[in-house]
Amino acid sequence: MTEQAFLEFHDGNRIPQLGLGVFKTGDDIAAPTIRKAIETGYRHIDTAAMYDNEKGVGEGVRTCGLPREEIFVTTKLWNDNQGRDKTLKAFDESFKRLGLDYIDLYLIHWPAPNRGLYVETWKTLIELKAEGRVRSIGVSNFCPEHLEKIIDETGVKPVINQVELHPLFQQKKLRETHAKHGILTECWSPLGRGELLDNPAIMGVAKKHDRTAAQVIIRWHLQNGLVVIPKSSNPERIEENFNVFDFILDDSDMRAIGGLDSALGRIGPDPMTATF
Ligand code: A2P
Repeated sequence: MTEQAFLEFHDGNRIPQLGLGVFKTGDDIAAPTIRKAIETGYRHIDTAAMYDNEKGVGEGVRTCGLPREEIFVTTKLWNDNQGRDKTLKAFDESFKRLGLDYIDLYLIHWPAPNRGLYVETWKTLIELKAEGRVRSIGVSNFCPEHLEKIIDETGVKPVINQVELHPLFQQKKLRETHAKHGILTECWSPLGRGELLDNPAIMGVAKKHDRTAAQVIIRWHLQNGLVVIPKSSNPERIEENFNVFDFILDDSDMRAIGGLDSALGRIGPDPMTATF
């Protein structure tokens, strides 16, 4: 039997700790994918304007048969819409595409420091939260210096920072900054885009528990207090990735996986230098 776990935001709202990522899930299959996930037990869907599937995601949430309040929906502002006017317009467009009464969490997708607009954009998210169509606001791919800057300039802390995080790239320094401010850490590409699934250390732990490598990696995230959003559009893997609430990794398992951390483990772009 599986049991949903939640983590508390500093603004009083809460987030289901395990969600479904839908990066690269086409708009045409998003609605049935989301209905399948919700039927499996997921209560948290993570999309973005850039994923080009908000319409299908919204349809999936509206037609899943559960009340809106039971599903947590995140979307994100794309980089070329940073700055107050563009942000307000982009939020309206995401809101309309999703077709929901409210959005649970709105994130700035990347700091894009080359654009010099993330502080102004953060101030706009603060306005949007006050207006009520979004319940919580946060950021994605922010480094400690970006976090410190928006907090210094506004006094408002994001509830969460969604970043690349998996056993090969564990982001320990960033997590210390999050802990200092009471910001939750959310992990994209938690499976290392599949690269970790045949790692010998992970496979050893998986064999010991008679689980799959993906289940062990997701369990490692949960036991580290991280919010985790594995992406899959395959029905069997959507189920597999949710069947993680009925076993526990022991200290030696956690140490074996923790030992995989590497300064060279990043798979995606570096937010300090990314210029998109
Ligand atoms: P698919 O959508 O066909 O299931 P990440 O979340 O780390 O970015 O990884 C996503 C990738 O891993 C996708 O290519 C996804 O493919 C694949 N994937 C997701 N869950 C599993 C799983 N349980 N076993 C193997 N591959 C998986």
